[in-house]
Amino acid sequence: MTNDLYAVVGNPISHSKSPRIHSLFASQTGEALEYTAIQAPLDDFPGTVRQFFERGGQGLNVTVPFKEDAWKLAERRTERAEKAGAANTLYQDGAGVLTADNTDGCGLIRDLIRNHGVRLEGADILVLGAGGAVRGVLGPLLAERPASLTIANRTPARAQALVELFSPAAGTSQLTACGFGQPGAPFDLIINGTSASLQGDLPPLSPAVIGEETVVYDMMYSLQTTTFNQWALDQGAQTVYDGLGMLVEQAAESFRIWRGVAPETAPVIDVLRND
Ligand code: ATR
Repeated sequence: MTNDLYAVVGNPISHSKSPRIHSLFASQTGEALEYTAIQAPLDDFPGTVRQFFERGGQGLNVTVPFKEDAWKLAERRTERAEKAGAANTLYQDGAGVLTADNTDGCGLIRDLIRNHGVRLEGADILVLGAGGAVRGVLGPLLAERPASLTIANRTPARAQALVELFSPAAGTSQLTACGFGQPGAPFDLIINGTSASLQGDLPPLSPAVIGEETVVYDMMYSLQTTTFNQWALDQGAQTVYDGLGMLVEQAAESFRIWRGVAPETAPVIDVLRND
């Protein structure tokens, strides 16, 4: 009997840690599966997905730059994928309907709460960025009922558009948008969801947003301290985390959806940290 087949699709894809993470989950849980990485041509993501499922593939993770294409391609979307406007998990449901989910937000929340013990309820949260990565995490963050959630972006109009989109989900949380220059007092939690560090850039924030108790979370990860986290440490932040835990947690949630088994994430995070 051949193993069930899963894969991550992106472009580029060679640096993806997903095959390593899912192989570790499979050995830990005793699930018989194979997980590979597929580079889809930039102009034919749908064809790549179709071929994968025609070959008997069971489930796909989707990464940059195809998360919105995956969302559009799906015939059915879970509620959290619908709100996120992007999908990182695809599978065929029992009736063969291509279904999209988004586990990124859930991955961030689990990493913050379970792995790092960060309190979100009642917190004042600053989120930097207003692209797809941020859109994917806003719903799950608001569901934790922070006192306030401020979205700051280089292009403030994009942050404002997200505020309009998510205000129905804000409940009693105060949801606002601004430019990087505006916030001038400490937050409980700052989450960097911009892609600025890919260009070695920093969002031009006031150091006043960092207080002694501020927790800083960079959704990016790297072997060294990320550029943003280093900036935060230089401003006196005591607690900074990168996005490795989020990466493993979103993968664990995809694995649970596909296999019905929730892998333990802490040992896998440890292995990756030491790879
Ligand atoms: P992703 O899917 O990774 O979120 P995206 O949709 O292209 O990618 O969004 C990238 C985000 O990083 C945006 O918020 C972008 O700001 P703009 O909306 O003003 O473009 C932000 N960003 C990218 N490069 C940046 C830089 N050098 N400085 C500050 N913000 C930057």
